[in-house]
Amino acid sequence: MMQELLLFGALSVGVYFLLLMTVLKLPRCKSTAKLHRKTAIVTGANTGIGKTTAMDLARRGARVILACRDRGRAEAAIQEIIQETGNNQVIFMQLDLASLKSVRSFADNFLRSESRLDLLINNAGLMNSGKTEDGFGMIFGVNHLGHFLLTALLLDRLKASGPSRVVTVASKAYAFGKVDFNCLTTHRDLVLGSNTFQLFLNYSHSKLCNILFTYELAKRLQGSDVTCYSLHPGAIKTEIGRYSGFWWRLFLSPIIFLFFVDAESGAQTTLHCALEPGIEHLSGHFFTQCSPLINIESKARDDAAAKKLWELSESFCGLS
Ligand SMILES: NC(=O)c1ccc[n+]([C@@H]2O[C@H](COP(=O)([O-])OP(=O)(O)OC[C@H]3O[C@@H](n4cnc5c(N)ncnc54)[C@H](OP(=O)(O)O)[C@@H]3O)[C@@H](O)[C@H]2O)c1
Repeated sequence: MMQELLLFGALSVGVYFLLLMTVLKLPRCKSTAKLHRKTAIVTGANTGIGKTTAMDLARRGARVILACRDRGRAEAAIQEIIQETGNNQVIFMQLDLASLKSVRSFADNFLRSESRLDLLINNAGLMNSGKTEDGFGMIFGVNHLGHFLLTALLLDRLKASGPSRVVTVASKAYAFGKVDFNCLTTHRDLVLGSNTFQLFLNYSHSKLCNILFTYELAKRLQGSDVTCYSLHPGAIKTEIGRYSGFWWRLFLSPIIFLFFVDAESGAQTTLHCALEPGIEHLSGHFFTQCSPLINIESKARDDAAAKKLWELSESFCGLS
């Protein structure tokens, strides 16, 4: 019996390490691009995938704007990035995506003080309950609507700086998502309720919005020198679950510990979409593991839903 247990233990450890070296190992962005005299914005760059993305862009010489809601957390990240990369062109600009006023003020501030924009990385995201300052569901408001307005306000500067790119961090959780336009127009949210399951559904819906937004944006950018991509970063150990309930976190922590990878690996597909030369013809596509996902579900390629979401978002933001 003891021998069998030992054999089972040894086999499990072996299989686990095999998984780590194969399925769980994410490909790295191969681009060697240098970014001197280029400017990038990364939203939610004070921690997680956003921070490692900003770190890599800074290492390549870019001027990097950390668009974050909390000055203290952003400045701690800036210190670390400057220390690690030796690039002191790393700047904090206040952006709270849960407030359309804050998005507008960020854009004004940026457009007044910066002459170019080469990369806009829409990275920030959350899975929390609550409402934004403007009364939208928090997940829809931050993950989709705030980034929608931000991109719209910066589009002319992106065009003037072309070739430039907009990269939006979505998730494979989009597969569980749908866009309920009825719920959106009546309740300004993608789903009602705030238990853990409903929050996950809401998050999945918002990630489908990220993908549809990118799909529609690519169409609207045709003929310009701006391209756009959405992506799944992988299953990454970050702070994204920090506001989930205690029991849920307890249940997930061994899974995250064993099967999720570090935030530097999580930045690789974002970096690929931002930097890889020759992917311009794939504008509007959804990437995972540094490659376009060919067999994406049809709901993420729904032309009518993408257009409707765009128009509704414009009206929510007072743009139409
Ligand atoms: N981790 C994963 O396995 C995974 C998988 C698929 C997709 N993603 C996506 O990857 C992206 C990055 O997430 P992460 O995993 O790195 O999570 P994270 O560690 O929680 O980082 C999220 C970032 O978003 C910022 N943020 C949240 N609300 C904001 C607001 N209202 N205004 C401005 N910034 C705000 C956070 O700022 P504070 O620190 O101030 O809260 C933080 O900097 C998200 O879009 C997420 O949906 C992650």
